[in-house]
Amino acid sequence: MSGLPVRKFDAIVIGAGGSGMRASLQLAEAGLSVAVLSKVFPTRSHTVAAQGGIGASLGNMAEDNWLWHMYDTIKGSDWLGDQDAIEYMCKMAPQVVYELEHFGMPFDRNADGTIYQRPFGGHMANFGEKPVQRACAAADRTGHAMLHTLYQRNVRARTQFFVEWMALDLVRDADGDVLGVTALEMETGEVMLLQAKATMLATGGAGRIFAASTNAFINTGDGLGMAARAGIPLEDMEFWQFHPTGVAGAGVLITEGVRGEGGILLNCNGERFMERYAPNAKDLASRDVVSRSMDQEIKEGRGCGPDKDYVLLKLDHLGPEVIMKRLPSIREIALKFANVDCIKEPIPVVPTIHYQMGGIPTNIHGQVVAPKNSEPNEVVHGLYAVGECACVSVHGANRLGTNSLLDLLVFGRAAGNFIVDQALKTKAHKTLPKDAGDRALARLARLDGAASGESVPVVANDIRKAMQAHCGVFRNQQLLDEGVRKITELEQRVQRIAIRDKSRTFNTARVEALELDNLIETAKATIVSAAARRESRGAQARSDYPDRDDTNFLKHTLWYRSGNRVEYKPVNLKPLSVEAFPPKARTY
Ligand code: FUM
Repeated sequence: MSGLPVRKFDAIVIGAGGSGMRASLQLAEAGLSVAVLSKVFPTRSHTVAAQGGIGASLGNMAEDNWLWHMYDTIKGSDWLGDQDAIEYMCKMAPQVVYELEHFGMPFDRNADGTIYQRPFGGHMANFGEKPVQRACAAADRTGHAMLHTLYQRNVRARTQFFVEWMALDLVRDADGDVLGVTALEMETGEVMLLQAKATMLATGGAGRIFAASTNAFINTGDGLGMAARAGIPLEDMEFWQFHPTGVAGAGVLITEGVRGEGGILLNCNGERFMERYAPNAKDLASRDVVSRSMDQEIKEGRGCGPDKDYVLLKLDHLGPEVIMKRLPSIREIALKFANVDCIKEPIPVVPTIHYQMGGIPTNIHGQVVAPKNSEPNEVVHGLYAVGECACVSVHGANRLGTNSLLDLLVFGRAAGNFIVDQALKTKAHKTLPKDAGDRALARLARLDGAASGESVPVVANDIRKAMQAHCGVFRNQQLLDEGVRKITELEQRVQRIAIRDKSRTFNTARVEALELDNLIETAKATIVSAAARRESRGAQARSDYPDRDDTNFLKHTLWYRSGNRVEYKPVNLKPLSVEAFPPKARTY
């Protein structure tokens, strides 16, 4: 069997961000043997970059309740989110936040000792009436604080970390069950088979398929690539969130918490233009609405700067005390990446790729599901997915800010608990198939065998440029079809890459070449799904189909690598215990 060394665990978690570590904590505390694989040291996972807060209706600042949060999330999703999963997440939110608090998370505090909460886009009181303070924050470093808290708890629970290991491919047997993963130790170049009774993908988003992104360089869609190559479809990949406030020219995130604390967006005339686009929520409308409005202002010549290609985020009126207490990192980022002191001057910002709403289809237990024999959600045994790489789907066509950290905690925990309930300790490992390592070894052999060919960074950058140009804030059929053609050509070029440095040890060029296989699958899934959805909904804004079309498109896209084709499955409009929120017009 491939001759690869094999190590056995009860569970393997691929990715050490918030969702992976929340799941592994649950597993390790229950006494299971758990391996967590990460390309980087766990506290450098991309969750560390999350700034503004975790959404939960604690009601510490004013009255709030989980049903309002649920309604806001469904409306934010433009009715594409599954209402059972959204109910589960919003109801669980206070519990997972209090758990985190008890794990030692250093939240900011109110004078009465309760957790400080700030307003965030699309979070409203009383079913859309007025903004509510729902984002539980640790200054503007909430993800950083959360990741360190979870890492320390995992160390205490004796989770076993494989640091600087890259997962290559899933191992699936003839029954379609997932039995583990092949993985590469980046330091030595050694490849190993990690066998498990439960394998969990927690690899985060894939924002690096775009040229301008708030995402870390590690966000290359590794879980998506592995799932696609194993025959699992990817859901709703056309929906990519542009965060309204990336630093112009640099892409670094400026938290929505700035607008939550009272910051405003201005065009070149000094006009607070969001009052025109979203008269009620203004700068705190949902992200798709704000990003489109900014894009519109720039396109109509009201952008700022010599090229009129950004707008301004003004926060000096908040005063130095608020800025230094609530937004200290934002001041540093503005100084370093925009050369402005935001205590005195506005920050130049543009909508920037931030978050992938789609991903690997799962149910609320984190089990990966795929259509089989006319059942749309048949479980893929042994495989789980959580966090940004998964699509459960709580974000639908547009995610509300702060619901990402919440998603990580709620579904990481739920998947962990579900696996614990399977009593894996008492079950034997299934026998690995003879070809268990073949796919990964063939990929490595292709790289190591190519004497000459295309450069990896050049092909990767061409993918990013094509995605940025053809899958932006506003899309149309011609642009998307041309994008599909370019990405198809790039797929051929990916097959012709060669790496110059073939040493097997600490060879980052080899890792980047392996990542390219994942970038291209994610790019294909995105552009093909976007070209097929002929309507505007949430983050998919089509100038040629400006309206939402519930008759034809109130459904989830499933993209298949085989045949590079899409199918659809129904949206779950039935919550678990409350009345459904039927689709209606979406205004802020
Ligand atoms: O704006 C932010 O702080 C980002 C938060 C999020 O994406 O949820």
